[in-house]
Amino acid sequence: MMRTVCLNGAFLPLAEAKVSVMDRGFLFGDGAYEIVPVYSRRPFRLAEHLARLRHTLDGIHLANPHDDATWARLIDAIVARNEGEDQSVYLHITRGIGARREHAFPAQAAPTVFIMSEPLQTPPPSQREAGIDAVSAPDVRWLRCDLKTLSLLANCLLRQQAVDAGCIETILFRDGRMTEGAASNIFAVKNGVLLAPPKSELVLAGITYDIVLELAAAHGLPCEVREVAEAEARAADELWLTSSTKEVLPIVRLDGQPVGAGRPGPVFAQMYAWYQAFKQTVMRGG
Ligand code: PDD
Repeated sequence: MMRTVCLNGAFLPLAEAKVSVMDRGFLFGDGAYEIVPVYSRRPFRLAEHLARLRHTLDGIHLANPHDDATWARLIDAIVARNEGEDQSVYLHITRGIGARREHAFPAQAAPTVFIMSEPLQTPPPSQREAGIDAVSAPDVRWLRCDLKTLSLLANCLLRQQAVDAGCIETILFRDGRMTEGAASNIFAVKNGVLLAPPKSELVLAGITYDIVLELAAAHGLPCEVREVAEAEARAADELWLTSSTKEVLPIVRLDGQPVGAGRPGPVFAQMYAWYQAFKQTVMRGG
């Protein structure tokens, strides 16, 4: 399958897309990104993803290279040029190319704008049915985790800890509180109440997180948006992970200890069904 990407407005085969080694994305991880899931060739929650991209760009003082209508057009063009009804579209903006390696911003640099699509690989049904294992780690990232920036070294190291332990995700704790996963948001359930760590500069405001809270409200599932202490997370009846690519997954073991009964819980089963029904109505219904 030949994949087509978009680099600075030009559509070309993935293998031919090249950027300068002086690009600040390469040298400093200086830039922003987004991942938009696409179902039935329709971007899911696009307005929300583009709003979060604006938030990230504002936060790193990088002008948005496109208005939302242009982003939408470029995304549609990439989706049309790639295979698969369901795709995962990656948007990437760097501060562009400086004349020398200098931390401070170049006086005038054009941003580098890169868009690619990958097949959307939602988790295999076995992960949902059996649940997944997670490890925990101190949240060693910086203090602006609300920004979806290219600098992901801490997230990569943290996710690798899970993989090295034969697990899927690493749950992060900072100052005795649960923040999120290395590349996901984390929810807890205790006594039938959904517990969601609040949005702050220490957590990425997940688009899937918002959908889960909306579905909880719509269906009358009791929910508390508040700090979740590490001890509470470890004593939860259920833990879930959410992200655009993994949707909602049950975590059944944390650091080798069973979460609740050690199998996917009833509240998860309910939320998963609501999530799939919501996706169907929004994306495939008409
Ligand atoms: N990551 N928290 C972090 C640190 C993330 O990287 C992500 C998503 C999320 C969930 O956000 P959303 O529901 O909007 O996908 C939370 C993407 C999938 C990634 O970097 O691959």
